[in-house]
Amino acid sequence: MKKIAIIGTGYVGLTTGAYLAHLGHQVCCGDISAEKIQLLNQGKLPIFEPGLEKIVKEELSTKRLSFVVGATNAIKEAEFIFLCLPTPTKEDGSVDMSFIEAVCKEIGPALESEAVVINKSTVPIGSTKKIEEIINRSDISVVSNPEFLREGSAIYDSLNPDRIVIGSQDPEVAMRVASLYKSIHTALVITSPASAELIKYASNAFLATKISFVNSIANLCESAGADIKEVTLGMGYDRRIGFEFLKPGPGWGGSCFPKDTKALISIADKLDYDFELLKQAVKTNDLQYEKIVQKILNNSNVSTKDSPPKIAVWGLTFKAQTDDLRDSPSLNIINMLISKGAEVHSFDPQISFIPASHLLPVSLIVSDDPYEICKEASVLAILTEWDEFRRYDFEKVRDFLESPQIIDARNLLDPIVLRKIGFKYEGVGLL
Ligand code: UDX
Repeated sequence: MKKIAIIGTGYVGLTTGAYLAHLGHQVCCGDISAEKIQLLNQGKLPIFEPGLEKIVKEELSTKRLSFVVGATNAIKEAEFIFLCLPTPTKEDGSVDMSFIEAVCKEIGPALESEAVVINKSTVPIGSTKKIEEIINRSDISVVSNPEFLREGSAIYDSLNPDRIVIGSQDPEVAMRVASLYKSIHTALVITSPASAELIKYASNAFLATKISFVNSIANLCESAGADIKEVTLGMGYDRRIGFEFLKPGPGWGGSCFPKDTKALISIADKLDYDFELLKQAVKTNDLQYEKIVQKILNNSNVSTKDSPPKIAVWGLTFKAQTDDLRDSPSLNIINMLISKGAEVHSFDPQISFIPASHLLPVSLIVSDDPYEICKEASVLAILTEWDEFRRYDFEKVRDFLESPQIIDARNLLDPIVLRKIGFKYEGVGLL
């Protein structure tokens, strides 16, 4: 059992704290928000993440997990300190390191001797060194240990990672950090700090590029009379390609891909490398949002009416199994529809849990009834892949819609069944 402090209780910090306690360590999580800490100490989560609340409650009761206000309070007696802080994008595309810098300045003098500071936040190359300089203590080691968990499957991903990456100049320190994960059987990749930092950006940028590529092939399918489900099936069996991240959709989003692709482009620019391929992947993604907007408007009788077209949307979060609206493709598409004069009515299964958010467009009408919003709408657009949508009553939807048309931007529903009951159905890259 090791004594661990986690600084920051967002998706990454909270999941890391919970699963490290679950692995048997003594974990204290610190956050600047007293309100959040009060909630967490009652076993309540400020976010929706499947399975996380159960582990937090269990580990609170074993007393292996605790929550305190403030970074300095969390690090008392800790041998390992995980930094799980936000690294947002600045106006110019570069990474805002101010949260990490402020915390390191604060905790530096108070760290236990021989402690190891482990950075999990996604940071520019060279940040491990920068953190060392801020802490400025010869007895303290700093390592990079990037996080690869996905929202919606954070606990599973953390307990079953494809690899653990530890970037350290000192092999002994790397092995001390590796010992925290000894009950997880997976590949251990020990690298320099700079390589570890780049592995995180390269992985996210590669996955984002993969999706942009498959979205392009899906668009090509529509003109070529091919079917993307068949094409990706044939591609995915090639083990060099694989089936993962080959699902076409409305474009990628979320708190990581948009931010990390922009950051890597900016990092490359600063290193005098023009990362043309990644710039195109981002541009392709922006065009994918527009492509979906066009599909929706083409089916909304926009030109034949004096009043604005009413469009029903199912799905607001950036993907299923999360309540996260950050950089949601759905919200990007809705904003574009509204700017083109549409009246958008929306529903999301998480809607009653999504706090009043500044991310929701002001003129967006939000309802907790998936059917009501379809009344007199000229088209229903599915923008998030919530599995439960498949089980909704589509005869009722058909009867409510002004014209029975569905744009399924996630290829979630069965076109054969829907067409049989009278829908005009359009997916992405489908026949
Ligand atoms: C991602 C990385 O997967 C994870 O390793 C990293 O730690 C954080 O960023 P996350 O943002 O939680 O995780 O979501 P992810 O499941 O990767 O999806 C990202 C975006 O790609 C979503 O908008 C999703 O809908 C889209 N996507 C994903 C596709 O359009 N098609 C796919 O096949 C897969």
